[in-house]
Amino acid sequence: MADMPLVEVKNLKKYFTKEKGLFAKPQYIKAVDDVSFSIAKGETLGLVGESGCGKSTTGRTIIRLYEPTAGQIIFEGTDIAKLPEKKLMPYRRDMQMIFQDPYASLDSRMTVADIIGEAFDIHKLGSAAEKAEVVATLLDRVGLKREHASRYPHEFSGGQRQRIGIARALAVRPKFIICDEPISALDVSIQAQAVNMLEDLQKELGLTYLFIAHDLSMVKHISNRIGVMYLGKLVELAPSGELYAQPLHPYTQALLSAIPVPDPAKAEEKQRIMLEGEVPSPLNPPSGCRFCTRCQYRMPRCQEEEPQLREVAPGHFAACHLLDR
Ligand SMILES: Nc1ncnc2c1ncn2[C@@H]1O[C@H](COP(=O)(O)OP(=O)(O)O)[C@@H](O)[C@H]1O
Ligand code: SF4
Ligand SMILES: [Mg+2]
Repeated sequence: MADMPLVEVKNLKKYFTKEKGLFAKPQYIKAVDDVSFSIAKGETLGLVGESGCGKSTTGRTIIRLYEPTAGQIIFEGTDIAKLPEKKLMPYRRDMQMIFQDPYASLDSRMTVADIIGEAFDIHKLGSAAEKAEVVATLLDRVGLKREHASRYPHEFSGGQRQRIGIARALAVRPKFIICDEPISALDVSIQAQAVNMLEDLQKELGLTYLFIAHDLSMVKHISNRIGVMYLGKLVELAPSGELYAQPLHPYTQALLSAIPVPDPAKAEEKQRIMLEGEVPSPLNPPSGCRFCTRCQYRMPRCQEEEPQLREVAPGHFAACHLLDR
């Protein structure tokens, strides 16, 4: 792993505007609210948190599918957060995304060859014959058959469709791939297969991943480090093993305690921390610590002062007043 990060996100914000009728003041959905992290070349950073906490928005904003509200997105040393579309083109090729829903993310009117080759055309990467060769090679690589090229998405299972989505992402030889819950919609029996394939491809092609998942059980093995998000904020970031062995933020502790343990004897030993209440709305997040409405350790200070993400042990960051010394 080289020292210079491939991707560095600094104070990234993405607010969506919620229109409230003609004369009312617009309200902001603070989907991503001041998030910073970096990903080294060849690294996989896991990003977890409950549904709605801003994981997909973070990913989509980094690759400029959404316009950032504020902050920097530094890709190989260049801040691409405000680059105009024309200058963004080469970066669009470097950064690809694998989507959660293999049903919705593939155009049902296009053949597999057209789907996989589309970005190849957009970026003018070669002749029709070269494209056909790339498609065939990619189909081999993701475990599909070459004759599948002329078929349509509805002819495939969920797992096969996800392979088509992966082949599509790889067609332009990207450096960075955002895997947005790529296995959540797949049958449990094939999830491990899909993760193994993504790991093999990463090694073979030197890829860097941001791997998004809604719970911690799916990201442990693939991630070098893991970030935990809550209501638009990064609340903890640590090397994968350390996050599991020593979670410091009460929210991470609760997420970890929710992972089912296969061994019944151990399951009894394990204390489940129940998260009280619902996730508050990002339209009107709690003041102070955003987790304070559900935290069993909350103190008066938590409602008044927002805890900052800081390094509490080497490489281990957390945002909680309990960790102040
Ligand atoms: N295009 C959009 N317009 C308005 N609100 C959005 C949009 N996309 C996401 N949101 C809101 O932003 C918040 C974060 O959503 P998202 O990033 O999809 O969360 P996650 O991927 O963690 O489930 C949610 O409250 C969601 O409703
Ligand atoms: S800052 Fe307070 S409310 Fe927030 S996680 Fe820590 S103890 Fe809980
Ligand atoms: Mg999502």
